[in-house]
Amino acid sequence: MIYLDHAATTPANPQVIDAMAACMRAQWKNPSAAYAGAGDARAALRRARTAVAALLNATPQEIVFTSGGTEGNNQAMLAARGGHVVVSAIEHASVLNAARALCREVTLVPPDGDGCVPAEAVARALRPDTALISVQLANNETGALQPVAGIAALARERRVLMHCDAVQAAGHIPVDVKALGVDLLTLSGHKLYGPRGVGALYIRQGVAVPPLLRGGGQELGLRAGTEDLPAIAGLGVAAELARADMGAEAERERALLAGFVADVRSRIPGCRLLAENAPRLPGIAALLMPRLDAERAIAALDVRGVEVSGGAACASRERAPSHVYTAMGLSPQDAARVIRVSIGRGTTENDLRTAAEAFGEVYL
Ligand SMILES: Cc1ncc(COP(=O)(O)O)c(C=O)c1O
Repeated sequence: MIYLDHAATTPANPQVIDAMAACMRAQWKNPSAAYAGAGDARAALRRARTAVAALLNATPQEIVFTSGGTEGNNQAMLAARGGHVVVSAIEHASVLNAARALCREVTLVPPDGDGCVPAEAVARALRPDTALISVQLANNETGALQPVAGIAALARERRVLMHCDAVQAAGHIPVDVKALGVDLLTLSGHKLYGPRGVGALYIRQGVAVPPLLRGGGQELGLRAGTEDLPAIAGLGVAAELARADMGAEAERERALLAGFVADVRSRIPGCRLLAENAPRLPGIAALLMPRLDAERAIAALDVRGVEVSGGAACASRERAPSHVYTAMGLSPQDAARVIRVSIGRGTTENDLRTAAEAFGEVYL
C-alpha cells in the first residue's frame, strides 16, 4: 500500500519503538518513587521533557505531558476559566467542542478563501470579556499556516491568553513558542513519528491553567496520573529525531508534493489545490476534484493500493461535509469532492508517480 495519510497519523520511527521497549524493560519503576532505584525512570522523564522543550524553544518546566492533542486542547480551554473565547472556525474538533463545552461563550472566526484566519478578523471578534484566543498553527485538512505570531501580538496587547494547536506543525516546521509569543501550545506524539496517546501542553511560565485531570501531584499538579513513561520516552526520541533533520525533510516533501500536484493536475483538468495561495505545510495537499465524489474516489484508490482521505480521519465517520472546507466557502457538494493527500518521511517519488497514475485511472 502507498500510505498518503500522514496527517491522520504517522508510523512510529523504529528508534522510537526501540526506546519505548527499552524503557518498558529497564525504567519500569514509578518515577514518583523516592528510592534510588527509580532514578532511571526519573532521568528518562527528564530527558524526554528536555527534548520536547528543545523542539519548542521552551524550558522543561513549561512542558506538561498529556495523553495527546485532544487532552492538551481540552486543558488549554480551561485557561479561559469559563469566559468568552475567540476560536478560528477551522480548528480541530478537540478545540471546537472543548471550547463549546468548557467556555461560557465562543465566537468563531472564519478563514478567507485560502483557508487563513486574518488577524484583523480575530481583532474584530475580541470583546472586553474575552479571556482566550485559540488559533492553530497549521490546518490539518489543507495544511494552511495561520498568522499565529500576529494574532498572539494582538492577544498580548489586549491582555488575552493565546493558545495554539500545533499538532500538525510540530516536528514538521520550526515551532518556537517565544517567536510565536503564545501562552499555551499543544502537540501530539503520533503526528511526528512518535507514539499515539501521548502529547504535551506548553504552558508559558507564569500562566495559570487548572488541571483537567485531578488526582496525584504528577506534572507539577497540572496533570494527575502515573506517567506513561514508555510513551513519554518515545515522544522525547521523536522530538529529538524531528529536530535533527526537519529542514531537509521539509524541503524534500515540498518538492515531492509539488511534483505530485502538477502530475495530478495534468491528468485531471479542473482539479484545484485548496489554500493554493497560502503558506502551507510541506506535506499536505487538499485537492478539489471535479465530478466524482471523494468517498467513491477514495474507495477506488484504496483498491489500487493508494490510501488517502477526504479530510480529517476522525470526521470521516460523520459523513458530514468538512467544517474546514465549508468555512473556506466551498459548497457542501464541493466539500465532498476534496481528497487530502499527506506525504511523509517514507514517501518516495516512485510512490507518488504510482499514486498520480491511480488518480488518473479513477477519474477517467
Ligand atoms: C490539528 C489537530 N489537533 C488535534 C488533534 C488531536 O490529536 P490526538 O489525536 O493526539 O488527540 C489532531 C489529530 O487529528 C489534529 O490534527
